[in-house]
Amino acid sequence: MERHGLTMGRVVGAALLLSVPTAALLVVLVAALKLNMMAAIIGWVVVVFLIGLLVRPYLASLSAVTSWARALAAGYDTTPPAIERERPVAEIVGAIAQLRRAWQARQRELAESARWNETLFDNLPDPLILLSEDRRIVRLNQAGLGVFGTASIGRDLAAVLRDPSVLEATDEVLAGASGREGEFTLPVPVERSFLVRVERLGSRAMDDTVAVLALHDLTAIKRMEQMRADFVANASHELRTPLATLLGFIETLRGPARDDADARERFLLIMQEQASRMARLINDLLSLSRIELNEHSKPRTATDLGRIVETATEALQPLARARGMTIVATVASEARIVVGEADELAQLVQNLLDNAVKYGRDGTPVEVSLGGAAGPLPPTVGNDLTPDTAVVLAVKDHGDGIGKEHLPRLTERFYRVDTARSRKMGGTGLGLAIVKHIVNRHRGALVVESVVGQGSTFAVYLPRPEIDDKAVLRPSP
Ligand SMILES: Nc1ncnc2c1ncn2[C@@H]1O[C@H](COP(=O)(O)OP(=O)(O)OP(=O)(O)O)[C@@H](O)[C@H]1O
Ligand SMILES: [Mg+2]
Repeated sequence: MERHGLTMGRVVGAALLLSVPTAALLVVLVAALKLNMMAAIIGWVVVVFLIGLLVRPYLASLSAVTSWARALAAGYDTTPPAIERERPVAEIVGAIAQLRRAWQARQRELAESARWNETLFDNLPDPLILLSEDRRIVRLNQAGLGVFGTASIGRDLAAVLRDPSVLEATDEVLAGASGREGEFTLPVPVERSFLVRVERLGSRAMDDTVAVLALHDLTAIKRMEQMRADFVANASHELRTPLATLLGFIETLRGPARDDADARERFLLIMQEQASRMARLINDLLSLSRIELNEHSKPRTATDLGRIVETATEALQPLARARGMTIVATVASEARIVVGEADELAQLVQNLLDNAVKYGRDGTPVEVSLGGAAGPLPPTVGNDLTPDTAVVLAVKDHGDGIGKEHLPRLTERFYRVDTARSRKMGGTGLGLAIVKHIVNRHRGALVVESVVGQGSTFAVYLPRPEIDDKAVLRPSP
């Protein structure tokens, strides 16, 4: 008979061991002739039998507890054995169960902490590469996988990052040098620049990691630096041209044309034009930087865009009429009000109308409409606006249109499709950049559609005031 590994032999062994004092007593009694040998033997057998009966359930329970503890140690989370009567053994089971609960709680904590570290590692925005002693890539976080791909895991760093200076710095750090820093450029798929820092870890990790390469994407900063440099170059160039003209005329007026009244009149007119061009350029630059400065703060006022459209239309009508054009404005009464800054919206409307009149063909109309969205919004509008929450201002002209290749760059500062034509018309090339920044500040969208030879439509999507907003919105004066 065997229960939980308990054999008859063990029960008998224990009974014999426990009967030793009784046996000793019987031996003494026999020696003192108080008991005969036969009776002593029978007595001893009975005692052994009784002890065996008594200890058997204890031994069985202990054996069950041992098996359970062994199973726990081997990683099997089995239920504890049911011990009914043997109190001391039941107490041992209770103690082990308590130990097991404490150990499980600790294990959960460790697992949670490991998961948290994993999440942190994976969600760091900068790419991280974990390296082994022999420069193999052990692991990458999500950002790292995005740059180097899963196939790079297990490969030599040199296979994915071919920059000699970074590899040299890595080798030095792996050989025991302190942390190093460098820069490198990944040429494909799009050129990206990174600042990279190699650091040796204090000790070898379980997965063989001994060093970490932390990359920081410098592409955006470099692009900004380039844009700033381009901007300064462009702005200086734009100012230098009229300034050179002014200086040239001043020289002429002081020299050869000193006494020529006709020439003086003509030159002064050109000088005035050039000076106003410079003033306009400076004004546009200033307003662009002012709008950019406020771009993070969304306007909160309710503004009558309908009235702004009507006023701007009236103001530009004479200019249009001079070219045989008419500006036709249609304003839907339920879409007049938007959330916006009146001055900026006036600037936006004026720039779009000015372009339509400037680049529209002589004798054609310019159609301005302000209304609700007729159907689904174009995908480029983004998710902040819906047909229910957006007001659409569309300015349509019948001019030469704009080639598709120019559309993505149209709102860049100083970008012109036809530089000579724009300059001749006194344009600074900043109008649409201003429009774009105003639209951004209003959390709206600008969508340009154009067909070469037929004309262009500039549509601006702006938010309507929400019902709940009404309380906080002040109507603009
Ligand atoms: N309605 C349009 N039709 C055709 N081309 C346009 C139209 N609007 C803008 N463009 C092109 O986009 C370029 C940039 O426009 P933007 O308004 O920024 O500058 P601009 O009109 O040249 O100068 P500014 O507006 O500062 O006086 C223009 O030079 C022009 O080539
Ligand atoms: Mg313009």
